[in-house]
Amino acid sequence: MVGPILIFDSGIGGLSVFEPIHSQLPHHDIYYLFDNARLPYGDLNEQELIRGCVELIIKQVRQINASIVVVACNSASTLVLPELRKQLTIPIVGVVPAIKPAAQISKTRHIGLLATPGTVARQYTQDLISSFAGGCNVTLVGSSELVLIAEAKAKRQTVDHAKIADILTPINSTDLDTLVLGCTHFPLLRQEIDEALTHKVVLLDSGDAIAARVMSFIDTNENDSTDIQGTLKAGYTKEIDAGLKETLADYGFTQLEYIAVAN
Ligand code: DGL
Repeated sequence: MVGPILIFDSGIGGLSVFEPIHSQLPHHDIYYLFDNARLPYGDLNEQELIRGCVELIIKQVRQINASIVVVACNSASTLVLPELRKQLTIPIVGVVPAIKPAAQISKTRHIGLLATPGTVARQYTQDLISSFAGGCNVTLVGSSELVLIAEAKAKRQTVDHAKIADILTPINSTDLDTLVLGCTHFPLLRQEIDEALTHKVVLLDSGDAIAARVMSFIDTNENDSTDIQGTLKAGYTKEIDAGLKETLADYGFTQLEYIAVAN
């Protein structure tokens, strides 16, 4: 059996990418690595973000002998991919906001991007918009608070619905019909976001596209040759509470470990 797929995020957001990958590859070992000591990434400066992610991912790839890395974080992907590709020879899959499909399906020609402040401000987001959504009006909303609300939900704490409605005000006051969830944390709040929207909006994320990309690197003979379920392990950089452990167990992660990192 080949080494595990390593899925990386700052927090629990990568679980929205883990789900479609695991449902297609139930026999494959998966290691979910999250850097909760430094969350939220959307507020970190670029150099700090790159340094910490690259060190942590490379250390863990070597430790577990990973066969593929999935950077399941929009805020980190475009920044860390070039350095990871320089230092590793295994496939590295990243994630970008689903601007292109959103522009293709929007009828009002008005789309939205709900992401972290870092993603909303980056040049690559501007480039995606000019390349693929040139004919559309694009409303950008950046929020780290929504990331923390998703984290709270995963810890089984109360979800602040009024706060979500407040964050979505710039979207509710427009005629946009398609909203890109450009942060992997946000599909975990899909129902809450949907409920807070005051008109019909299609919500798009990149989970299935990333799973398809991962599948393109998998030897399907290998994948089908066993009935044994893959082992699911998770590692984090700051101790987690009982609520989050329960949530991870619900996803199938029963082997958990703390990974010490320098600050
Ligand atoms: N889940 C991440 C993303 O897709 C990062 C959230 C954060 O730590 O700010 O952007």
